[in-house]
Amino acid sequence: MKKTIFITGTPCTGKTTVSEKLSQKLGCRLIKINDLAIENDFVLGIDDEKGYKVIDIDALDEKVGEIIKSSDELLIFEGHLSHLCHGSDKVIVLRVRPEVLRLRLEARDYSLSKIRENLEAEAMGVCTAEAYELYGEDVCEIDVSDLDVEESVELICDVVEDKVNPGIGEIDYMSWLI
Ligand SMILES: Nc1ncnc2c1ncn2[C@@H]1O[C@H](COP(=O)(O)OP(=O)(O)OP(=O)(O)O)[C@@H](O)[C@H]1O
Ligand SMILES: [Mg+2]
Repeated sequence: MKKTIFITGTPCTGKTTVSEKLSQKLGCRLIKINDLAIENDFVLGIDDEKGYKVIDIDALDEKVGEIIKSSDELLIFEGHLSHLCHGSDKVIVLRVRPEVLRLRLEARDYSLSKIRENLEAEAMGVCTAEAYELYGEDVCEIDVSDLDVEESVELICDVVEDKVNPGIGEIDYMSWLI
């Protein structure tokens, strides 16, 4: 079955962990967008202020398009830049309540400002809003705050197989900002 799924979300929402298990369960290829960008030299530089890698999104988009075009099977792409690329049949945004996400971000060696920035992005649903711009109704969000990895994988499987469609707009973490 030719189908492409993108899994996106704020850093530390569990994209890589969940996608690895999901691709094993479904027996399909997983493409990690961050690795793809590095392997293909799409890193333009490092942002002076924030320390992020700046990625050439147009080049990434083109590469993602080539991979999708050359595949006849189910493909999963994971990464927080995936939803900026074209060609997916469905974009799944993993959402984690800021209170829970904070603990995961703090366990990494991120600066306080980077933690704050990611938490604000999650509270405001930035990934969902960006994905919606490109994908409209083909975007859905899953709140995985209270799910373990296995439970998250089960739920995403049902979404991939069109058994459920959670849509967007149900998840609201805005009160965290106030
Ligand atoms: N469902 C879960 N329950 C509890 N902890 C989880 C869950 N999913 C992932 N984690 C933990 O959260 C941390 C971040 O997970 P992971 O690296 O998969 O996130 P990510 O979204 O891929 O982050 P990044 O955008 O930085 O690549 C890891 O320590 C992982 O073990
Ligand atoms: Mg990851």
